[in-house]
Amino acid sequence: MAGNWKMNKTRDEALQFIYAVADNLPSIDKLDSIVCAPAIVLRDLVKRQGANLRIGAQNMNENDSGAYTGEISPLMLTSTNVTYVIIGHSERRQYYNETDVKVNEKTIKALSVGLTPIVCVGETLEERETNKTFDVLESQVKKALANIDSNDVTKVIIAYEPIWAIGTGKTATSDQADEACGFIRGLVQKLYSLNEASKIRVLYGGSVNVKNVKELMAKPNIDGGLVGGASLKAEDFITLCNDAVAVKY
Ligand code: 13P
Repeated sequence: MAGNWKMNKTRDEALQFIYAVADNLPSIDKLDSIVCAPAIVLRDLVKRQGANLRIGAQNMNENDSGAYTGEISPLMLTSTNVTYVIIGHSERRQYYNETDVKVNEKTIKALSVGLTPIVCVGETLEERETNKTFDVLESQVKKALANIDSNDVTKVIIAYEPIWAIGTGKTATSDQADEACGFIRGLVQKLYSLNEASKIRVLYGGSVNVKNVKELMAKPNIDGGLVGGASLKAEDFITLCNDAVAVKY
């Protein structure tokens, strides 16, 4: 269960959140509870991450270092003990022109430095309404995973986030989410001709909240959630994590 705070929380608010959730999350052998926070608070949060909490970044540059003003490098993340990184979120694709090629380069780089990439894919409303959902997902997944071998592919987490469901309060139905996550899982399995591909973790994201989390997590192809708005309240994040465990075990 990964929370994506996006551009929210001051340092004090971030610390308050971490203190509040610390002792209330499921154990790590049951669930990876992950908070993906703004870069400036990562150092504070990793210092306080308990045995049951992981900290992730929301983006990174694909280069180790260099003249890229304002960017955060993968080595800065690993040297700060961050373990996850979101790559290719639709907001980055939309507002910062992040292309499929960049998403692929960042995914390869993340794997090479030992970060677990959470790669986001998803269709627009127009694409869904014109029956292009699966073509879009296939293209995004194939491009994101280009030149990644079968050993590495199982380390990638893919998040299905239909753009029309993000921050809109409009959740995909649990059947739509399950169908798309199943499609992605099947595609990776086919691309790599591996049973192991079934080990790929596929998350659903888009208006997940404490009311719908159980229904979504009960679906066989949905391994977890990537949660924006509802991950900002400590109490809700605790509920999301514990409800996921309650449904999955
Ligand atoms: P919301 O949960 O606020 O819809 O955001 C989803 C998302 O974009 C997570 O990455």
